[in-house]
Amino acid sequence: MEKLSTRHLLGIKHLTRQDIELIFNTADNFKEVINRPIKKVPSLRDTTIANLFFENSTRTKLSFELAEKRLSADVVNFSASGSSVSKGETLIDTVSNILAMKVDVVVMRHPNPGAAVFLSRNISASIINAGDGTHEHPTQALLDAFSMREKYGDLTNKKVVIVGDIAHSRVAISNIYCLQKMGVKVKVCGPPTLIPKYIHALGVEVEYNLDEAIAWCDVAMMLRIQLERQGADYEGNQVKYFPSIREYANLYGLTLERLHKLNKRITIMHPGPINRGVEVSSDVADSEHSIILNQVENGVAVRMAVLYLLSGRNLE
Ligand code: CP
Repeated sequence: MEKLSTRHLLGIKHLTRQDIELIFNTADNFKEVINRPIKKVPSLRDTTIANLFFENSTRTKLSFELAEKRLSADVVNFSASGSSVSKGETLIDTVSNILAMKVDVVVMRHPNPGAAVFLSRNISASIINAGDGTHEHPTQALLDAFSMREKYGDLTNKKVVIVGDIAHSRVAISNIYCLQKMGVKVKVCGPPTLIPKYIHALGVEVEYNLDEAIAWCDVAMMLRIQLERQGADYEGNQVKYFPSIREYANLYGLTLERLHKLNKRITIMHPGPINRGVEVSSDVADSEHSIILNQVENGVAVRMAVLYLLSGRNLE
């Protein structure tokens, strides 16, 4: 059986192209499974998985839980709200107590960058990073690239622009690593205040004009403004990176009018949650250009593949 080069999924940065292709090929099989009338396989029977969510989630949390149940794993769910974290328990103590209940794999979302790496150095179970602050969101990038591969086949030399709040986006960083490993040309687009200064070091070009960016690309990945990660000033007021949401939407919001000016068809993606009328208009999000719900569907198959490969079981 082919194996991943790692026993944890902490980020895309340290995966090889072979790892990514193995995940995609395994996800192809699981996508076929979840479209059958009986969607469940016994692959992870007797494996116990803990989903630890220290930060809000809709898609990732439900998608991991569905993936685990489709693989017949035993699942326990933990949310920081309502837990003993509010009584001062540390991350290591919380997780060590959960592991004492004989857990094999931990899926964790945490607001602090590096939390998943820290955990992997201190506990014995396999760790899957379900998003750690502004650092990485590896399964999102995998499902995004898997969805592009489903649409285009080989991704070599395809052109993808990631638009919006790049500076606070773990989705952008993981996608840059993943797409570049698959031979994709990547640009980012957004207001200068939301483009990190280190971006050129990642081999990514910057385009500040959205119309130029979409004229260049095959795929536009639209991102939400991450207000919850933009911080506060010394008086506790939200830091402002642009004058108003209205101005942002005028300059960087994707509308059908903008798409109709192109003499080609491009694919629109978004990791969710969407702010309709800000980064993308409703008619674009719901149009035939959009593969947003395909991304969500593929999330289950891709997460099944990651869980299966990290558990080290053979396909049954
Ligand atoms: N894309 C994504 O991570 O969405 P959630 O925050 O709802 O999990």
